[in-house]
Amino acid sequence: MNGFGGKVALVTGGSSGIGRATALAFAREGAKVVVADIDIDRGAETVGLIREKGGDAIFAKTDVTQTYDVEMLVKRTVGTYGRLDFAFNNAGIEGTQAPTADYPEEVWNRAIAINLTGVWLCMKYEIPHMLKQGGGVIINCASILGKVGFANASAYVAAKHGVLGLTKTAAIEYATQGIRINAICPAFIETPMLERGGLTTDPQVHQMIAGLHPMKRLGIPEEIAGPVLWLCSDAASFVTGQALLVDGGYVAQ
Ligand code: NAI
Repeated sequence: MNGFGGKVALVTGGSSGIGRATALAFAREGAKVVVADIDIDRGAETVGLIREKGGDAIFAKTDVTQTYDVEMLVKRTVGTYGRLDFAFNNAGIEGTQAPTADYPEEVWNRAIAINLTGVWLCMKYEIPHMLKQGGGVIINCASILGKVGFANASAYVAAKHGVLGLTKTAAIEYATQGIRINAICPAFIETPMLERGGLTTDPQVHQMIAGLHPMKRLGIPEEIAGPVLWLCSDAASFVTGQALLVDGGYVAQ
């Protein structure tokens, strides 16, 4: 589709779910891929899956809340592959389920640190390199919950709304310098994140969640990977500052 031969893509949260599917999709299109995550074992699995198919990838252990880790991630990417064309800032956690007034402060702080500050920190180190090389594309992973509220998920919803503000602002700042910055907003996608919350393991809950979408189903990670790659491609050369909903119609209701 895109022909990413000679390009280099970085994917945070690439050990699992949406990040893994997107790392594999980048590799299928010929890009060299840096898989960044705190989960070393599953990160090695993602790299293995890419190499099995003849692709080129490395794993970089990275906690996106740690400045040093993120700085080293970009350094290692450029040191290994010579450039950084695409960054998918995707690492995220679900937080917990509790009403706003009962939300535990430590979980709030962690969810904001990973889901919002982590995205900013990644851009802080990705952008200077992209400026130096004359351009690049950044995709930040938000959610439908960056667009609408959801009961008992205040930290997650606040972080994802924050990601959209951050994306728009950075997009404006670098629009004349060859860097496009967009966000992707998935609805409920079948990944380990939802399994952990019991949303896909209990058939009744699964059906209830499916019913929230006009398409009456959840999405799969590959259905997010495709739009991320499209946003990175030249077909999207005039698209910046957008929040692309990939949601089976969820927010249209
Ligand atoms: P997942 O749990 O399958 O994958 C998330 C990955 O992020 C894991 O490999 C995890 O180890 C990694 N991670 C967590 N904390 C990290 C940190 N501090 N530093 C580096 N890596 C870290 O989840 P999924 O569903 O693939 O989520 C990916 C992104 O998509 C997240 O930002 C999530 O909020 C977003 N999203 C997911 C939806 C869903 O229904 N699954 C819906 C909308 C958005």
